[in-house]
Parts: sequence; structure tokens; C-alpha cells
Amino acid sequence: MTLEIFNGPAEVARAAASYIVDLRPRSVALSGGSTPRVLYELLADANEPFRDRIAWDETHFFFTDERHVPPADPDSNYRMVNEAMFSRVPLPAANVHRIPAENPDAEQAAVDYEADLRRFFGEAVPAFDLILLGVGEEGHTASLFPHSSALHEMKRLVVAPWVSKLDSYRITMTLPVLNNGRSVVFLVTGASKAEILREVIKTDKRTNETPEPQHDTGPSSGQPIDPGQPIYPVQAISPTNGAVSWLVDKAAARLCSTSNSSNAGAGNDLLNKNP
Ligand code: 6PG
Repeated sequence: MTLEIFNGPAEVARAAASYIVDLRPRSVALSGGSTPRVLYELLADANEPFRDRIAWDETHFFFTDERHVPPADPDSNYRMVNEAMFSRVPLPAANVHRIPAENPDAEQAAVDYEADLRRFFGEAVPAFDLILLGVGEEGHTASLFPHSSALHEMKRLVVAPWVSKLDSYRITMTLPVLNNGRSVVFLVTGASKAEILREVIKTDKRTNETPEPQHDTGPSSGQPIDPGQPIYPVQAISPTNGAVSWLVDKAAARLCSTSNSSNAGAGNDLLNKNP
């Protein structure tokens, strides 16, 4: 895992765009939410040095997760990415693999999306060249929320968990897919993510070393921490044969102390400050 800190969201997006054009991924799983929009707009911007370096006709785009809404809904991740990128680049429609979240039956939407993944990748667990992820303030990633049964799904590629805090279903790729990615990139910006980023790094450190006296800093369970088990869903992202990169801004990293770099000994190049 590497974590790089940049001045702000624009610099994070630019670093991610450079990484993507160098990586030349042919299969990409995109996250939604608000953070990656800057990146998607940058990749599509004809005045920037990225758009013409992407083989749009050879690249297939999937979604890590989706809200249970139709594609025209303001909450739709597909709508966000289509407005920010797809509609502005020479991308064949067949290369866009949208989650059919307009289906009132979220479970069926998950089943159909799994079939789409299997059509593209064959029967083996999909190995995306690139997976973009974010993190929520309580540690969720994709739509894998704390205490969700979806975290324990090890056979299916896509599921439709009910998310009580959102009072809605979500459709999300599961850990077997996310942990089979060749390159996983987290984009995290803004002061609202400072607490969770510190916790994720600190408790990640905890699971790698002798656990401290057991007092619960985990997500509101009151249960003693089970050493070795991810405390936050985002910590369950640990690709078998892939690299994990965190691209964050200073506001998100403001609570991360250099002491976290103790992980560096373990091959983590944790805190690289970038201009
Ligand atoms: C979604 C995302 C989700 C997102 C986090 C962070 O559909 O919302 O895929 O996992 O990455 O919620 O969201 P923000 O970028 O909006 O903070």
C-alpha cells in the first residue's frame, strides 16, 4: 500500500489521471460518489494531456456499485460518470457496462450485472486492470457498509444489500472481485474524511502488529476488537495480486501523523508528500 498526499482535489485528480494513462487499463471499475467526478472530467477534457492518450475504443468501463435508482436520477453514479466523462469522449456504447439499477428488484439487477461481468471476463473471478474506490466517513467502500452481510459474500460477484442508514438497497461488487484487481486506487479528499483516514491507517497498523489493550474504537459495536479482522470495510480491500494506492489531499490527511510511517518498514511507503 502506498499513500500519497497532494495539495487538493485537483492535484489528486491530476495524479490519478497520469497514473491511469500510464497504466493503460483495458478493464476499469469506476466508483461513484462525489470525489472522483473531478478525475472523470479531467480525463475527458480535450484541453488536457490525458483524453488523447486513452484508447477509449479498447477500454471497458464497469461500476463498483450503484444506487438503486434509474440512470437519469440525480443520485445515479452512471449519470454522474456519463455527464463528467462518457458523453464527452469517443467511447463505444458497448464499452459501458452500467448496473441496471432501474430494475425495481435490486436483487435481479445484481444477478444481471454478475451475468454481464461473466460475459466479459468468462467464468473466473474478474481481474480488473484498474479499480477506483472511495471511502465513506464510517469506513464503507463501494457499497460495502459496516456490519453488512455483503462483506461476507465470497461466491457471488455482485449483491444487493439493504443499507438501513440509507433506507435503500445498493448494488455492489463483492470482496472477491475487488480483491482480484490488478491495481486498486483510492481517491480520498476533504476534511470530512480526516477521521476515517487516520483510523484506517492507525487500525490497519494495529492489525499488523501486536494488538494494544482491547478498547473499542471500532464502528459503534462496543465489541472488543478482533485482531486480524478488518475493523472498517475499506480495510478488507487487500488485493491478492494487486497494488493498492491511496491518493489523498492534505485536508483528508491532516490527522495522519508521520508516526504512521512506521509501516514503512513493512514495505509500505506510507506518507509521500507531493507539491
Ligand atoms: C457511492 C460510492 C461510494 C463512495 C463513498 C465516498 O456510490 O457513493 O461508490 O463508495 O466512494 O461513499 O463518497 P464521496 O466521494 O461522495 O465522499
